[in-house]
Amino acid sequence: MPQENYSMESVSHENRKFNPHPDFAAQAHIGSAADYRQMYERSIADPEAFWAEAAEELDWFKKWDSVLDESEAPFFKWFSGATTNLCHNCVDRHLAGPNRNKAALIWEGEPGDTRVLTYQDVYREVGKFANGLKQIGIKKGDRVAIYLPMVPELVLAVLACARIGAVHTVIFAGFSADSIRDRVNDCGAKCVITADGGWRRGRVLSLKNTVDEALKGAESVTDVVIVKRAHGDPFPCHFKEGRDHWYHRLVQDQPIECPCEEMEAEDMLFLLYTSGTTGKPKGIIHTTAGYMLYTYLTMKYIFDLKPEDVYWCTADVGWITGHSYIVYGPMQNAATQIIYEGAPNEPDEGRFWEIVEKYRATIFYTAPTAIRAFMKWGDQWPEQHDLSSLRLLGTVGEPINPEAWMWYHRVIGAERCPIVDTWWQTETGGHMLTPVPGATATKPGCATVPFFGIEPAILDDDGAEVDAGILAIKQPWPGILRGIYGDPQRFKDTYWCKWGGKYYFPGDGARRDEDGYIWILGRVDDVVNVSGHRIGTAELESVFVEHKDVAESAVVGVPHEIKGQGLIAFVTVIQGRAHDDKLRTELVEMVDKSIGKFARPERILFSSDLPKTRSGKIMRRLLRDIAEGKELGNTTTLADPGVVEQLQRQYEES
Ligand code: WT7
Repeated sequence: MPQENYSMESVSHENRKFNPHPDFAAQAHIGSAADYRQMYERSIADPEAFWAEAAEELDWFKKWDSVLDESEAPFFKWFSGATTNLCHNCVDRHLAGPNRNKAALIWEGEPGDTRVLTYQDVYREVGKFANGLKQIGIKKGDRVAIYLPMVPELVLAVLACARIGAVHTVIFAGFSADSIRDRVNDCGAKCVITADGGWRRGRVLSLKNTVDEALKGAESVTDVVIVKRAHGDPFPCHFKEGRDHWYHRLVQDQPIECPCEEMEAEDMLFLLYTSGTTGKPKGIIHTTAGYMLYTYLTMKYIFDLKPEDVYWCTADVGWITGHSYIVYGPMQNAATQIIYEGAPNEPDEGRFWEIVEKYRATIFYTAPTAIRAFMKWGDQWPEQHDLSSLRLLGTVGEPINPEAWMWYHRVIGAERCPIVDTWWQTETGGHMLTPVPGATATKPGCATVPFFGIEPAILDDDGAEVDAGILAIKQPWPGILRGIYGDPQRFKDTYWCKWGGKYYFPGDGARRDEDGYIWILGRVDDVVNVSGHRIGTAELESVFVEHKDVAESAVVGVPHEIKGQGLIAFVTVIQGRAHDDKLRTELVEMVDKSIGKFARPERILFSSDLPKTRSGKIMRRLLRDIAEGKELGNTTTLADPGVVEQLQRQYEES
């Protein structure tokens, strides 16, 4: 694979620093910088002993023979020889003690309907769901796609799969039919679990219709399970006899008892598709034991979780945040958590704060893009609600700008709550760089320090340590991805090529400050982070060139006030074809259809040519300069410098 060279520059001069509040530190699992340092040093000096000790906190059917096996690196194996089950550790483990009747899920639908499920309830529902899946022929190792709104059945479906050893692949309900089809075909899913609809901004999204569309051309799927959520209104839900099953009918007569499948440590737990720099989304593989332990421990320490907490993560289970910090992390820790189905501004911009007040949430975890939207909507919304129950705030998904961090700290946290800015990825399984809330002094916009067992470095292209450069992770950790489904070569090329296979390459730029803190500077590859959702520019470009009038396209990311980054598309039209609003509309429709509405570009600019080097490579850097209204960088390597000047004029005029 060709190696790109990256250069990172940093413009941040943030130097405010906030020590953990003494009251918080006094009650925290890890209550001082010295305690953190001691644990961290031990985790690095002897990672196997550290992880083995932590693993004793969980249940195993059989203990491991070795903690870490690097013999087939970068295909690492953790806890070889052990057997366990994630669903057991999330549910059954809690039934013997005081958590049996503790609220596990406090769910609120967008229209205001509510449900509460205790751990005992979850046990019962998951057992029946798992037996239902078995009845339609789902076995250990089969892939099950889940395309559901944020209803309790989404969590139950994930746990039911884990219980019987089926590999779940959750597809965010904003994805289009084409995207579902690609994913289902890539992994050969046998079953899709969906709903008739789900609520979003006062409307019902017709999920089942989208699945029906997707399954035209997805031969592997033999069964579809439909959760009744929208009750056919306003979308009557087509039902295909022999293939489709109503969830409530499938489970109604199932026995509750469903023994947990005894899973090997490295048995596949789930696939989650994410965008890369080239080609189709890749199916990230996570396996059982390592992911289990990593999400368990990060949850406990980074959210400083206590039995009395009411935790709320606003992510969707369709993304890794929801896998690790709605399903597996919280439930392994017997947390009580809030799950909300809908939009933050439905029926008004105070909805989230109303929910915090109503359930007395203590821990709140959201994304910078949401925080910027709250800022824009104004302080009056949170001010109308009693947020005094909150004790810890978190953020994830993209670098948080210091102003948004300060607003979060002041208006939501009342200057009392620590903020954990957690840097991690679909591939890492759990938090990697983050403050430890009772121990780490925070700085606005900074992901600060590594979690236990994580050894970060900032390197240049040649692997030399630098202050600002490319982030690398030097040692494997239990939550690391185990591969890309069906494409081991792409796994090696993407993550292990950069420094001769020595270190994990996450694709982010970073810098280290005078305190040794790490600041994430954003992606160094052609991945754009739109509202915390990863979009590969190559993916969008291949959508555009499918249009018969389009010759070529280049998509770049630019800073966006709310979304963090927005997409700008440069599209070259075949000579003689019209480039007008009709074409623009058609291209937007193609994005909706191929990926989903959330991937729409901010602007589509038509041009007669794109700036290229003499060897024909599109110079995206110059396109970014144009889109950001910057002085143009070096143009001497261009084949035709006139192209870029013309584009710039056109961009400014449009
Ligand atoms: C990319 C991973 C991790 C769950 C959500 C996104 C960016 C994520 C932060 C943060 C700066 C961040 C990185 C990373 N990112 N969290 N706290 N500060 N950047 O998961 O879709 O796998 O995206 O999101 O660029 O590589 P993802």
